[in-house]
Amino acid sequence: MRNFIFHNPVKIYFGEGQAVHVAEEAKSRPGAVLLVYGGGSIKRNGAYNDVTAALREAGNEVIELSGVTPNPRLDKVLEGVKLVKEHGVSLILAVGGGSVIDCAKFISLGSGLGEDEDLWDDYVETGKPAPENLVPLGVVLTTAATGSEMGDAAVLTNWARNRKLGYTSFPLTPKFSVLDPTYLLTLPDEQTTYGFVDMFCHTCEQYFSLPSDDNLSDEMAEAIQRHILRSWRACRRHPRSYEARGNAMWDSTLALNRVISRGKEEDWVTHGIEHALSAYFDIPHGAGLAVVHPHWMKYVYASRPEATARFARWAVNVWGVDSTGKSEREVAEEGIERYVDFLRLVGAPLTLPEVGIPSDSATLDKLADHAGEVGGSYRHITRDDARAILASCV
Ligand code: NZQ
Ligand code: ZN
Repeated sequence: MRNFIFHNPVKIYFGEGQAVHVAEEAKSRPGAVLLVYGGGSIKRNGAYNDVTAALREAGNEVIELSGVTPNPRLDKVLEGVKLVKEHGVSLILAVGGGSVIDCAKFISLGSGLGEDEDLWDDYVETGKPAPENLVPLGVVLTTAATGSEMGDAAVLTNWARNRKLGYTSFPLTPKFSVLDPTYLLTLPDEQTTYGFVDMFCHTCEQYFSLPSDDNLSDEMAEAIQRHILRSWRACRRHPRSYEARGNAMWDSTLALNRVISRGKEEDWVTHGIEHALSAYFDIPHGAGLAVVHPHWMKYVYASRPEATARFARWAVNVWGVDSTGKSEREVAEEGIERYVDFLRLVGAPLTLPEVGIPSDSATLDKLADHAGEVGGSYRHITRDDARAILASCV
């Protein structure tokens, strides 16, 4: 195991009706609340009603910022920063999915910067740590996907420059997150699928990395993956089941609250390449991952003995592959094929053309340039490797 620090202070309120706690959270931070949300789904799933009722009880002034888009953009963040400064906001409340949460995280960061600092150039592009004591952030979650509700990471798109970048810094961590599975009951099938692809991919990007020594993190990652597959099937069969949606919600949070990456190098190559797809073509994050992830696997699994052994272990422990009489490599390949079959079964896209991205040479070059020197653990992925992976996504 590598050395690590673990510090995750997010208070989780899980279950039906838990948005009532927004009242006490707001009361304890007297001042205006900036309520951030997307295109209106929260008005159909009950979250908006619950949150505004809790805020009425708390008595805080409420300012609304709506219209956050999927793959949230810098201009919406700057609109929010302006509101925070004008109204002396004391709590930013994100009500929605990963895009709304991440937009709110960047509003919190932007509000804490000096006049001479630039959010994009000085922080997002460089990864410079955020200042302490930002305007606190609370979350009411309405998707099961990103894990942003219990983490210090956020992803932002600068559409004018066709850049989509992740940024991680502890002060962006929410103070609390409300996880009420009833809000997921209105999720369309497509969005449900993308969320599952995302959480599954998150567990993989921590699990498929060195070191390969005995580590509870890997055991937990396998358990979470098996459970994600179970919840995925349950949500497909019973989309309005509270139990299925509740499991999906907690699966996604545990997939990226950093518990299963402790002691691991991690390998976020698939995410790095996916961000290039969304930066130019504005596709849903989970759709881009479904295209890239299995192709990254095929590019990496035979690159060194530790990788082949890990993919074989995964095939047996997560996909139930029978390894009797087979080589490690055959078992690993069977595991990857089971994953591809499953993605096909649930209707996830598997190629660039399926998500409307042409696979001509100029496009591949452009995407590979965005991905750049991606890095990785089992296999270091250069810009040219990223291009080769993308070229195989056809
Ligand atoms: O805008 P509204 O009307 O709210 O509609 C949204 C949006 O169109 C809709 N939706 C959300 N909750 C719903 C619902 N529709 C019906 N019922 C509900 N309960 O779903 C659409 C997509 O929402 P979005 O927030 O974009 O989805 P998701 O949660 O998958 O978030 C994706 C974003 O998170 C980033 C992605 O790159 C992408 O920008 N990520 C953030 C991470 C992090 N902060 O750690 C890690 C992830 O790897 C990911 O990169
Ligand atoms: Zn993701």
